[in-house]
Amino acid sequence: MAVYYVEGGNCLFGECEIQGSKNAVLPLMAAALLNEGYTVLHNCPNIKDVHYMSDILCDLGCKIWHDKNLLIIDATEISPGAIGGESVSNVRASILIAGAMLSRVGHVMIGLPGGCRIGERPTDFHFDAFEKMGVSIIHYEDGVECECDRMKGCEINLPFPSVGATENIILAATGAEGITIINGAAREPEIVDLCLLLQQFGILVEGAGTSRITIKGSKGLTGGDVAHSVISDRIVAGTYAYAAAAAKGCITCKINNLPMMESILNPLSLLGCKIEYGNDYFKVTCHEMHNGLGSIVTAPYPGFPTDMQSQLMSVLVTVPGKSVIEENIFEKRYHIAGELAKMGACIHIKNDIAVIEGVDCLHGENVRVCDLRGGAALIIAGLCAKGATVVDDAFGYIDRGYENIVGDFTRLGGCIQYE
Ligand code: EPZ
Repeated sequence: MAVYYVEGGNCLFGECEIQGSKNAVLPLMAAALLNEGYTVLHNCPNIKDVHYMSDILCDLGCKIWHDKNLLIIDATEISPGAIGGESVSNVRASILIAGAMLSRVGHVMIGLPGGCRIGERPTDFHFDAFEKMGVSIIHYEDGVECECDRMKGCEINLPFPSVGATENIILAATGAEGITIINGAAREPEIVDLCLLLQQFGILVEGAGTSRITIKGSKGLTGGDVAHSVISDRIVAGTYAYAAAAAKGCITCKINNLPMMESILNPLSLLGCKIEYGNDYFKVTCHEMHNGLGSIVTAPYPGFPTDMQSQLMSVLVTVPGKSVIEENIFEKRYHIAGELAKMGACIHIKNDIAVIEGVDCLHGENVRVCDLRGGAALIIAGLCAKGATVVDDAFGYIDRGYENIVGDFTRLGGCIQYE
């Protein structure tokens, strides 16, 4: 339960260091189960989802030390057992434990994954692939049991470049006999980061970042003590950049892996913001925004990410003219349209299309958070609205993914408090 009090009207100026990526560190934590040794993760974001995932690893017998942005996982000894409860039901990425445990011990019994309610979010791609690798699967009402003494590598064609399914198949394939090829794989930077860690464990994995990934399985990884630094969170960086566009100002975000920001920052350039790049930062300057954006379509990486769609909507509602967003990844990701309408926005939703007519300005309101990125988007709206906005995050979505959104926006000149 959390409530954010935002007073709009301040422009944003200054510099912030972008946290490690939530969607990179969660698969990295699952991968640590493969290593019969210590896995040390630097630049680990201090967020609720990491704590949930740590609880799951501890339930499996891992020893964990977490000191702000350093996470040490000792998976030398694990004690396989059924895992479920709040940690599993809250975090979508808990499903990645399945692939890792199948590789390590050939068995897993796990509750159904949770995550933001932005659509049905089925898991058929994951388990269809496991079955093709020889895994026997029993589906229960509240979970699934998977078993296989020795998975066989094979060629898997994903019907859609699912991030989680790609990651889960990679993790399982590390323990399969022979070669596994994933065609139609997701290309997200977070998958590249996962494969970098697996290579440090001594696993032969090639093609990460492309749509064809090849993994050569091997048993009993004693990678020894491996250290890895988590890539920056491109969605958090994009959230702050979009806040600077909506509230106007000039901010610098320090971030590793700049090329992954391209599809996120391009729309801001089209809207008239100035984007500058350095070795380890980008700078966004925005004094005013030109007419509407035409049409933006969410797509798998390297397309415009669905995780930035709500934040983009919060920017476009005060851009003169008409803009159109097409959400192609999830079927229920327009929750915030109704909340922005309460603040004076003019948005028409029809199926997966949102048509936005820019208004002069929003006014402060009491609004409700329905998912992680929508919550961050409502804070952006509050920062650029006239008056005070109360963002009611009853389920604590925002701090599942943002390490210090209040501190960061305060440091940049925003007027925001939190209780
Ligand atoms: C990951 O979710 C991210 N989460 C999401 O970020 C992100 O929005 C999503 O990828 C897309 O980029 C993490 O990495 C922890 P998918 P994931 O499998 O893996 C369908 C955030 O805010 N599908 O790529 O669950 C699915 O319904 C979160 O940080 C199947 O049909 O997403 C969706 O329409 C939100 N069957 C599409 O594929 C399956 O078996 C993409 O889902 C799997 C997926």
